[in-house]
Amino acid sequence: MPAKRRTKEYDNRPIGLFDSGLGGLTVVRAVREALPDEDVIYLGDTARVPYGNRSPETVELFARQDLAFLEKFGIKAAVAACNTVSALALPNILHEKHSFPLGGVILAGVEAVLASGRRKVAVLGTRGTIASGAYEHALLAADPRLIVRSIACPLFVPVIEEGVTNGAIVHEIFDLYLAQLLRDPPEVVLLGCTHYPLFRPALSQYLPKGTLILDSAAAAADYLSRLLKEKGLCAEPGRNGRAQYYVTDRTPGFERLARRFLDAGDGEVIDIHLADVVNT
Ligand code: DGL
Repeated sequence: MPAKRRTKEYDNRPIGLFDSGLGGLTVVRAVREALPDEDVIYLGDTARVPYGNRSPETVELFARQDLAFLEKFGIKAAVAACNTVSALALPNILHEKHSFPLGGVILAGVEAVLASGRRKVAVLGTRGTIASGAYEHALLAADPRLIVRSIACPLFVPVIEEGVTNGAIVHEIFDLYLAQLLRDPPEVVLLGCTHYPLFRPALSQYLPKGTLILDSAAAAADYLSRLLKEKGLCAEPGRNGRAQYYVTDRTPGFERLARRFLDAGDGEVIDIHLADVVNT
């Protein structure tokens, strides 16, 4: 399976991205836009989504299995396109030796906040991501003058997965978690979960005018492009990068959801069994 597609100047091996489910496709979309020459292999662990309410031990175990599955494709770099994995599992996994560079979405999100030049930040994420304090630590380590508030929004993912991204229900859920942002508005809201970019239009209506909304998908794509350049891993310019999507379960509503996240119908979807990942 490993692809031997390395020439002296260019490296046409694929980039591996993985997520608990389909939310990471928002990162794939940004990567494909920024790096159209690159081949991408995506693993969505749709059989075990969501990771956001699970213990750190379980998230780490799943993340290791996902990564080992991608490694079999001879990838040249990997991105955990999942905030929960990036927050709970990567700190341990990053210490280990890998034959390819591995990154997550937290630092990319932090870079986006720093680049905005704004100081008063609200981070929204799953229960696991917020409980880990990963964003808060990384933001304050990068700039101790930042004022950071973190808010867990556990109902966001299931509602988005139901295809509901605006209207009265969404407004009520915003009130439940975000009313505090109306009373004491932040300058920037960082969407610390792969699903949340789908709420962006509703959030910009809900939040006070002028609130900047950032997500880590575009920032992760920027980070990846810099990394490939720095390490001399870029694919040959002008080639048409291919995308392959592996899912551990083709759940009902899969096509609809995948289309929403990806916003484009390109690439090939390949069903695998959860066992293919667990027994890697
Ligand atoms: N991909 C997850 C994240 O970015 C959201 C879905 C889940 O809970 O697994 O945090």
